[in-house]
Amino acid sequence: MEKLVIEGGARLKGKVDVSGFKNAALPIIATTILAGDKCTVENLPLIRDVFYYRDILEQLGAKATLDDKGTMRVDTTGIDNCIVENELAQKFRASYYTLGAGLGRFGKAEVMYPGGCNIGSRPIDQHIKGFEALGATVEIDHGIIKCEADRLIGNKIYLDVVSVGATINIMLAAVLAEGKTTIENAAKEPHIVDVANILNAMGANIRGAGTDVIKINGVNGLHGCTYSVIPDQIEAGTYMMAAAITGGDIIINNVIPTHLESVTAKLREMNVEVEEYGDSIRVTADDRLKGVNVKTLTYPGFPTDLQQPMSVLLSSAEGTSIVTESIFDGRFKYVDELKRMGANIKVDGRTAVIKGIERLSGARVSALDLRSGAAMVVAGLSADGITEIDNVYHIDRGYANLENKLLNLGAKITRVKE
Ligand code: EPZ
Repeated sequence: MEKLVIEGGARLKGKVDVSGFKNAALPIIATTILAGDKCTVENLPLIRDVFYYRDILEQLGAKATLDDKGTMRVDTTGIDNCIVENELAQKFRASYYTLGAGLGRFGKAEVMYPGGCNIGSRPIDQHIKGFEALGATVEIDHGIIKCEADRLIGNKIYLDVVSVGATINIMLAAVLAEGKTTIENAAKEPHIVDVANILNAMGANIRGAGTDVIKINGVNGLHGCTYSVIPDQIEAGTYMMAAAITGGDIIINNVIPTHLESVTAKLREMNVEVEEYGDSIRVTADDRLKGVNVKTLTYPGFPTDLQQPMSVLLSSAEGTSIVTESIFDGRFKYVDELKRMGANIKVDGRTAVIKGIERLSGARVSALDLRSGAAMVVAGLSADGITEIDNVYHIDRGYANLENKLLNLGAKITRVKE
């Protein structure tokens, strides 16, 4: 067991480089299964979920190496089935992308119902609806999702809920299907575009990714390619909030500023200065910040994955803020941890009313999931005294090199083995 120990109060200063985007990297690794060839994927974040995916590829029979720069060289020629071991599947959520990839390449895939963050109910009915519309049969047998199809035939699929995972899984299954597939009410997140881009680089024919109608013309086969993953806007947003809460002045490199527009707009409303350059942003905060109202939405709205760090920021901003979580029904669990640090927050269903206090105070808290763990780090950086965060493995699933990046910005943070 490891914990992070933070002495709060240091103003963050300096430069930080953002890693590749976890939520693009994971399905992008799954696309290599579809290629059935040699692929090179660059700019992967060195995080646990990426290591788990490499393990899945190897378990399936691929050869995969990952270097310390985040480049994975993978040869999936040798894979002849897509039946993932239960233990690997349950380590994280994105293991379910092997379903779309396996169905597409082999007409068969099996994976245990995936793990991932406990942030409310996370059904996969839209994934299943999409696979069935393409002609697959889907059965859940003792928690294992089993998909099979003699032939996949393109179809028109309307998603009842805008889902990142379902949009990607259906794209994966449809690229090698016969004929044309249309996904309506598709998710528009930057990682949808990234996954479509690598598939097109492999020879797929996908148009409309990034809009709510994606059109896929099935092709006969794919081939290997070299591809670089987009930067992680959620990691960037977390550093923006860390700078803002500590009254810092930092430059965040390797970002696509347009992916952060909703976050930048809210921070500016709070009196944080955000300057945008080509692929970097500077975040400066001098005075006490002003509370604002925030509602999480699908892209290009405010991302649910930054709701927790944003709520931490609002906990010590002036006035009352209202945060509405419209994507996941259980994403306020961390509020009890934050209350240990003195935060004044009342949660009613999907709404949190936050009355800003002057300053949080250090306490022993838990990372309940990935982003709530990041939120506790943001809280600890500004709090009076020492904050100890346990269950750090949640944070390691999604933030590459977190404490070194923060140390370089002047934070007082150490990792302690218990
Ligand atoms: C992805 O989860 C991300 N995970 C999440 O990031 C992120 O919070 C989420 O998208 C929203 O942006 C990965 O990419 C691995 P959804 P996903 O399907 O795909 C409902 C993080 O911290 N829904 O877009 O599971 C669902 O319950 C993680 O990095 C259905 O009803 O999210 C939710 O309310 C956490 N049926 C909404 O849609 C379905 O079949 C959005 O979920 C699928 C989803």
